[in-house]
Amino acid sequence: MNRSSTRNYVPRETIDEILRRSDIVEVISECGVSLRAAGRDFKALCPFHTEKTPSFSVSVQKQIFYCFGCQTGGNVISFIQKHEGKSFIEAIAWLAERLNIALPNQDPRSIADRKRYTTLADLNRFAVEYYHEQLLKDPASVPAKRYLNNRGVHGSTVRAFQLGFAKSGRRELVKAATAKDFTTQQLVDVGLIKDEDQGPQDRFWNRILFPIHNERGVPVGFGGRSLSEEHQPKYLNSPATVLYDKSNILYNLDKARQSVYKEQRLLLVEGYMDVIMLHQSGIENVVASSGTSLSENHARLLKRFVPEIVIVYDGDASGFQATQRGLLRLLAEGLRVRIALLPTGEDPDSFTRQHGAEAFTQLVNKAINLIEFQIQAAIQSRDIHQIDVKTQIVAELTETLINVENRVELSEYVKYAARELQIDENILWQELQDAGLKEKAFVPGRTRHRKRTPQKLSVRAQIEHQLIEALVQNPTLIPYVKSQFDDQHFTEPHCRRIAQLLWEADTDDAPIDIQTFINNCSDERLSAFVSGILLRKTPPPNLQARVDGCLQKLQNFLIRDLEQRVRSNSLAEGEDEMETLEKLVKLSNERRALRDRNAEVR
Ligand code: UTP
Ligand code: MN
Repeated sequence: MNRSSTRNYVPRETIDEILRRSDIVEVISECGVSLRAAGRDFKALCPFHTEKTPSFSVSVQKQIFYCFGCQTGGNVISFIQKHEGKSFIEAIAWLAERLNIALPNQDPRSIADRKRYTTLADLNRFAVEYYHEQLLKDPASVPAKRYLNNRGVHGSTVRAFQLGFAKSGRRELVKAATAKDFTTQQLVDVGLIKDEDQGPQDRFWNRILFPIHNERGVPVGFGGRSLSEEHQPKYLNSPATVLYDKSNILYNLDKARQSVYKEQRLLLVEGYMDVIMLHQSGIENVVASSGTSLSENHARLLKRFVPEIVIVYDGDASGFQATQRGLLRLLAEGLRVRIALLPTGEDPDSFTRQHGAEAFTQLVNKAINLIEFQIQAAIQSRDIHQIDVKTQIVAELTETLINVENRVELSEYVKYAARELQIDENILWQELQDAGLKEKAFVPGRTRHRKRTPQKLSVRAQIEHQLIEALVQNPTLIPYVKSQFDDQHFTEPHCRRIAQLLWEADTDDAPIDIQTFINNCSDERLSAFVSGILLRKTPPPNLQARVDGCLQKLQNFLIRDLEQRVRSNSLAEGEDEMETLEKLVKLSNERRALRDRNAEVR
């Protein structure tokens, strides 16, 4: 579905209401970006690219954001689109849900889906609270409490993670939930009960429950730990449901997001207990893959929030080969990946309990990148001086390196690998190219890394930019400029497109609303361009004079264009010489008149 057609599903008034009621600062903060006040605006480290000093700005007054580093910008809707990876219509729905605004005009199926989703999420919310209450208050929970206590879990952690307990009965939740008017079918749909021959049965019994949320904090499922060796499996998880798709969920991502922006890295561990025990000792930027291998969805999800992942492996690291593919996916998403190895037999939970959070953090700080890890592992286990071994290692490395999206890092890795393996860097580059490395430009000795240097604009394009800038800063000037200058006369494509939109949006009955205008920019580069103009310094004092200056210069260019066309036309089509001459005289008169008119304006 293309954007202009989906856009029609939400009426203009609803979009307006959503924009009016969504404060961009609140929304951006809720998405985990820590904004700091800077004068009338807010600043933060940009969530869309890696940086050390904040160049991401949010204007409260104008309700837009712009990053001076990566030139991303727009309004609150564009932010949600970009940050949450959503389409325009999905971003609207996201914001509407947050404000409890019903979206009319949706196609009936998606309304039904939406309703089903909300009901199931409510049911999960009910179950989280129910099981949590049970753990806190029910006498039957004493062994569970003792178990948690023995493992060093504090009461505050139990509450922070809303840990729960399912008693031994097989119809506890069935009874409690149906008393609250949830249906058996809904309980089955959300994976909390199984409808068996002997009637509906709770899925979880005699287990400690870890509620699992999606990245927005909606409870989607549970992991349940047994209290004894005899009761298998050790962890029983919710099945796949409408809400819970393992390939999309990382345990604790909703909470970890909040601290990730400070740390600029996320720790990936294996288990629920690892997450909650690290959290308890003050390390909050942790998520767990919960025993599933990392999917492409996981990688994309992570990429939205953080530039670097540190994988904290259990000491035995036997799963390393198995998870290798997942790690390559992270690289392919452009994430930096480092690996911290724990002593054999330890996991983050046991390590931290024994050696403390400080020691754990040190270990994480010492984490080496995936490539170093691979090289070191290869060097330590094999004799790299044997030529066939070396060839084999180079082949393996190439397979990993080809996934490294970030070119600066790639060249660092290549350098490192060449040094450690004692081979010529160029050989590795050659191997990478043979393996399909896209950009040949990065082979050393040819070109340096691609840098997004803005293209030098022609004088004419610069003037066009200035004119557009002035109009975006003060849309009341649009009717005036529109009356003198056709949008098709802009030569720079960006400017022409924006002029076209501005000219279209400018109607007699209402002044242009820049928020609506941003929504109508079908190309995200255009809305970023407009936001960039708005967030730059205050407009110059005499905007009108600047506009007139631009107009005069642009009209001069136009006349020159015309003259040229007249000249070449006359040659090409054998036009009447007199006629051509006449046109030229007329044009040069026009030019003089224009000059005089502008002199008057000054
Ligand atoms: P581990 O076996 O390493 O467990 O499994 P753990 O996290 O250290 O748990 P404790 O300390 O023994 O309580 C790592 C993760 O793999 C998943 C769970 O998500 C677990 O946290 N897992 C493990 C299962 O889903 N099912 C299982 O039977 C075992
Ligand atoms: Mn453990």
